[in-house]
Parts: sequence; C-alpha cells; structure tokens
Amino acid sequence: MFEVNEKMLDYSNAKKFWDELVSEAQGMRVEELIPNLANFSALVFSNLPDVNWVGFYLFDGKKLVLGPFQGKPACIYIPLDRGVCGLAARELKSVIVDDVSQFSDHIACDSETKSELVVPFKDSVGNLLGVFDLDSPKPGRFTEFDQVGAQKIADLISKAAI
Ligand code: SME
Repeated sequence: MFEVNEKMLDYSNAKKFWDELVSEAQGMRVEELIPNLANFSALVFSNLPDVNWVGFYLFDGKKLVLGPFQGKPACIYIPLDRGVCGLAARELKSVIVDDVSQFSDHIACDSETKSELVVPFKDSVGNLLGVFDLDSPKPGRFTEFDQVGAQKIADLISKAAI
C-alpha cells in the first residue's frame, strides 16, 4: 500500500493517486463479481482520504440493492427514482454532490456524510449493472479526478461482471 497523506488532496497528485489505486485494483481483480466488489470497496476506503462510506449497489432489474461496502450500515434498497444513487443509475451518468443538504432527495444513510460521488457501471452492451458510491464527511470533497478514478475502478467491475 502506498502512503496516504494530505498531499494526496493536492489536485496535482490526485490523478497519480487514482492511477496507482486503479493499478492496484487491476492487480487484485478476479473473474468473480462479489470478491471484486468487496476488495475494491476496501481498497478505496482504506486509501482514499476523507471518506466515511465506500461501496456498491447492484441493479436487480427494478431497483438498486446494497452490495459489498465499507462504512456504517446502509439502506438496502434504492428505487431508481430516489437519491443520488438512483439519479446516477437511471441517467447512467456520474453525479458529484458537493453539499448533500442541498440535494433535496438525498438518502442519508450516515448523518456524517456531507458530499457524495456516485458513478454507474454497465455491462458490455451498456446496460446498468449498478453504482459505485463514495461518501465524505467534508463538503466539496470530490473533484473530476475522483470521478474519473472511481469510474475506472467501477469499469473494472463491468469487465469481470458475471
Ligand atoms: N446517499 C445515497 C444512498 C446510499 S448511502 O449513502 C450508502 C443516495 O442518496 O442515493
């Protein structure tokens, strides 16, 4: 594991930080869905500064269902018309919320959460498989560097999804 420190929050380092994290995820990836979800959650949660929840929700054809994660217990089901996760899932686009108190439909699984990044991931023909959800106790925590990096990790799931 590489050293995580305040410098990681220096944007000039953020891309290098995520490149290393993605490379580490690639190294541990297997052709099995659940182990990848579990290990990628643990990898990002244990290395990314200022996050309080990192994990996956899987799409069951109708709603998002809680998958492997790190952090406090979370809501199990999220309909596609609810929350930051539902928005990312139904529109198949990444969502960064700098201040969750300003996002009227935010689902607060952890009262410590102040900002959130959610990226969707798809199968080989572009169908929704689920979302990768990162929460932070700091407002405005996530930048486009985090969005691109988290998407690269989520895309590793898509490649291995069974
Ligand atoms: N905050 C998310 C719900 C998932 S918990 O953060 C783990 C949302 O609004 O969709």
